[in-house]
Amino acid sequence: MDEHPSQLDPRDAAAVDAVVKQALAAFAAVQDLDALKVARSTFLGDGAALVTANRTIGSLEPKDRGLAGKNLGGARKKVSEALASREAVLAAEHEARVLVEEAVDVTGPTSRAPLGARHPIETLIEEIQDFFVSMGWQIAEGPEIEHEWFNFDSLNFDIDHPARQMQDTLYVDGTSVGGQSPQDGNLVLRTHTSPVQSHAMLERGVPLYIACPGKVFRSDALDATHTPVFHQVEGLAVDKGLTMAHLKGVLDHFAKAMFGPDAKARLRPSFFPFTEPSAELDMWFPQKKGGAGWIEVGGCGMVNPNVLRANGIDPEVYTGFAFGMGIERTLMLRHGIADMHDIVEGDVRFSQQFGLHGKGH
Ligand code: PHE
Repeated sequence: MDEHPSQLDPRDAAAVDAVVKQALAAFAAVQDLDALKVARSTFLGDGAALVTANRTIGSLEPKDRGLAGKNLGGARKKVSEALASREAVLAAEHEARVLVEEAVDVTGPTSRAPLGARHPIETLIEEIQDFFVSMGWQIAEGPEIEHEWFNFDSLNFDIDHPARQMQDTLYVDGTSVGGQSPQDGNLVLRTHTSPVQSHAMLERGVPLYIACPGKVFRSDALDATHTPVFHQVEGLAVDKGLTMAHLKGVLDHFAKAMFGPDAKARLRPSFFPFTEPSAELDMWFPQKKGGAGWIEVGGCGMVNPNVLRANGIDPEVYTGFAFGMGIERTLMLRHGIADMHDIVEGDVRFSQQFGLHGKGH
């Protein structure tokens, strides 16, 4: 006791009470839970007056121990209770402040990364595929880098057909000598989806009902209405007894799927090496700018017997019809897209306008 002149005397009720008052004042003064923790260790921690005084009780005269214990016990109870109630108040204040300060305005603008969008060419291709699948046709695909034989020769193109010339066809390898067979190694970027006709006839045989959407390539410069990489959908049916009436019926049905219930197809005489007779394919487009009218969307015809023969099918037994349609052109007409650049440039804001299923909002 002599070494600790400031040591609290637990028998001195007034002195003990003074420490209690000091503690209560300190608790009332602190404004947050961290400061309250410091005050708690000052008044109830290991070195606190009330705690160290408690340790001196054993060395007191036995007659004084009861009073000392009562004084300290009562004091510590008061201090603990004051601490607990101040802690409850500060915790409640803290919670209320967090609710205000850290509140999130869920109606405010967010910094979340925007969602992408599917390209309308892709969703239109899906719509076209669904249409043909709904009629029981199959979807077929072929390579984009194609043997010259499949792209031209198996389709009855003459050796000197102008489409083989360099200005139209992008040659990958070899020279334009006419593909004698797929094995001669002359490769082109396919200029149309018609070579898939040949693959399908050789691989799947007859009867055959297929639609083949895909990329095609021509050495055109990109401008408002042309792009060197574009998409076509090819249709091919080979069976016993097919006539041009079946072709017309399918195309009328397809026109309605593309351009609405009032649309229909019209065929104008034309020439393609792989069809005979051949026709340009027009569709009646009721929503045409400036009034309903015909628009040219592709080509079609009865499969040339030479093509059937080159692909292992007997033209005496089977007949077929085929058509090819440009997908970019159809998309541009249907949605009033004036510039091809919008389709090929890949700005997500363009694609977003078409929504998830490509039909627009
Ligand atoms: N392949 C032709 C084109 O690219 C279109 C077509 C396909 C014509 C099928 C007739 C039959 O222009």
